[in-house]
Amino acid sequence: MEIYREDTSVVARYADRLSDVYRRHLQCTTLREGAHVVALPAYRGVALDVLDLSSLGTTGTFKDWLAAVAIAECLAHGHRTVLAQSSGNTANAVARYAAHAGIRCVILYPPASRRRILPHLAEAPGVHFVEVDAPEERIKQVLAAASAALDLPVVPPLEAQLEANKLRAYLLRDAALASGRQWDWHVQAVSSGFGPMGLYRGFREIRQDDPGMPWPRFLGVQQEAIAPYAAALTGTAVNEEAPMIEPTLFRRAPGPDLLARMQSLCTDSGGTVRVVSNGRYHALEAKAIADLTSAGVRVTHDADGQVRERAGLYSLAGTYDAVDGGLIEEGARVLAAYTGGSGPGAPLFEPEHRARAQDVVGLVAALTGLRRPAAASQA
Ligand SMILES: Cc1ncc(COP(=O)(O)O)c(C=O)c1O
Repeated sequence: MEIYREDTSVVARYADRLSDVYRRHLQCTTLREGAHVVALPAYRGVALDVLDLSSLGTTGTFKDWLAAVAIAECLAHGHRTVLAQSSGNTANAVARYAAHAGIRCVILYPPASRRRILPHLAEAPGVHFVEVDAPEERIKQVLAAASAALDLPVVPPLEAQLEANKLRAYLLRDAALASGRQWDWHVQAVSSGFGPMGLYRGFREIRQDDPGMPWPRFLGVQQEAIAPYAAALTGTAVNEEAPMIEPTLFRRAPGPDLLARMQSLCTDSGGTVRVVSNGRYHALEAKAIADLTSAGVRVTHDADGQVRERAGLYSLAGTYDAVDGGLIEEGARVLAAYTGGSGPGAPLFEPEHRARAQDVVGLVAALTGLRRPAAASQA
């Protein structure tokens, strides 16, 4: 059952909460950044709703919001070419929104994320996906080297991510008012944590005008193999030997600034970050899919029968696991964010360009028609 809906664009609806540099060109970048809240069957006495940030989006994940905002900022600064790196979903969103705004983009992604890339997006003029066979840190390094050597901005910057994600708080304030519901917990599968960091920034902003506004406790969910926040906040040991189940949830080393931000939002909201073990995830996945499907939320499968995207399912599996574990208690009401998973099915992407890490700067220079200064040849 649907209990609240913004069909068109959360970003456009709350644009007045953004500063001029993001807002000025938003009408040229927004496409569809919708969201809705649906009710799921209660689980062991816990009322459960899902915030679906996937079905009503342009590329099927909540990354559409930040692409709309970040590309609007690029237009404000007069950038004609941008660089990005991503585990897949941000890549799709940046490609779609940059192409829509007539901005050229070169986007690096690792081979593990090839399944994520939507092939039709690569066909747009000026969009170049480059598969780089290197670990996350190395891809970030060569991206920074290309950015410095060619004087091209990297999108989306942190601030645009946080500002785009803060709009979720305004949506939830209005959804709570309209539906009469109040959520005790907000659950999201986290990688970098930009979603919840932006969300709680939004809640803080709203509280400046309305100090009594209740906000939910945050529960972050991480997979067994990659759980830096759970390790830092709760001392959970990370099992790096465990297979990675969801490549989107990739960030292994968030760094002190992001750790401090996550720590502070958990402390302020009374929340935490937990690991869902691979065994538990596999045990809970079918229930998550069945509950979502019967509530009208699509879970996309690829032609080979594989679930296309598991980040949204992790949020739900993490919710069930936290109820089973006693963290979320009977009588509570939970809002689990379904951040991706309803996007279009797609054939496997055939990489357009592949590069070794040390060749990335040269390739980016060639793709963008910019000359590579000699000093930048060693990434
Ligand atoms: C679909 C989806 N869900 C969740 C996440 C986690 O996002 P974050 O940790 O930045 O809030 C990502 C990206 O990393 C994603 O693409």
